[in-house]
Amino acid sequence: MNMQLIQTVAGLRDALAPVRRSGASVGLAPTMGALHAGHGRLIELARQETGCVVVSIFVNPIQFNQKDDYERYPRDLARDLEFCRARGVDVVFVPEISEMYPSPQRTFVEVERLTEHLCGRFRPGHFRGVATVVMKLLNIVQPDRAYFGEKDAQQLAVIRRMVRDLDVPVEIVPVATVREPDGLALSSRNQRLSAAERRVAPALYQVLQRAGERIAAGVTDVQAVKMEALAAIEGLPGLRVEYLEFVDPEDMQPVERIAGPVRVMAAVWVGATRLIDNVLCPLAAVTQVTEIA
Ligand code: PAJ
Repeated sequence: MNMQLIQTVAGLRDALAPVRRSGASVGLAPTMGALHAGHGRLIELARQETGCVVVSIFVNPIQFNQKDDYERYPRDLARDLEFCRARGVDVVFVPEISEMYPSPQRTFVEVERLTEHLCGRFRPGHFRGVATVVMKLLNIVQPDRAYFGEKDAQQLAVIRRMVRDLDVPVEIVPVATVREPDGLALSSRNQRLSAAERRVAPALYQVLQRAGERIAAGVTDVQAVKMEALAAIEGLPGLRVEYLEFVDPEDMQPVERIAGPVRVMAAVWVGATRLIDNVLCPLAAVTQVTEIA
């Protein structure tokens, strides 16, 4: 089947109707374009697990809390389409803003508690915009499975919670973070880094990994590990920490003591570019046993 480029909601429903009648399952990978190997991994998994792969490309204005960030967001549709074609995508959905928001949006999805900290605290309204557009995309495409990256762990947690709370009939599939050989998580925003900034950027992952290892080794004093990690990042030229927290992987609340799995999450400014990353420390259960003994 040739890849179809579709720009309207009605066109998409028409294209998917015969697919559904045939009994094939539909997989959705929502993106904002400027596709890279991270998005590629979502597509690859969808290709393996479903009969019809839909990729949406939409730079969603309502999730940007800074006009400048929205305007500077990288866009390259011709390249993105080639990227999708090469990976066997069936349908690329590229709606205009007027198609997604034909009249002023009066209905929003708000996921409470999980959005209080981390990116939710520093980007007011961001997750409301994300949850709303993802809910719309899930309603438009009605996929059996939808793919989201662990790189945006708070976003993944928010979407999972929304789907559970609102009984959306879809399986949310988490996808492990794809990294450059030096550890830097792939991101569309990496394009904005200068050569010098690109050289220091991998420090973010190194620091998170070291913090994760300290927790896995049984250190329970979160504050001490946090101070050490903050000092390591602040000691590097051009890096500024926005937040660095140890959180419960499901409800995204900062923890003071290690009593189960935790995710170490951080947002760092590298010059004028904001990067986020996180690592999971699943071994914390061992710590509990050590404490009791
Ligand atoms: P975008 O930043 O384009 O990311 C689309 C999807 O790709 C997200 O699920 C994200 O977590 C995943 N992704 C990005 N970089 C990745 C990496 N290095 N490894 C693995 N997965 C990665 O996230 C969004 O768009 C938007 O908020 C969206 C969900 C599309 C709603 O507008």
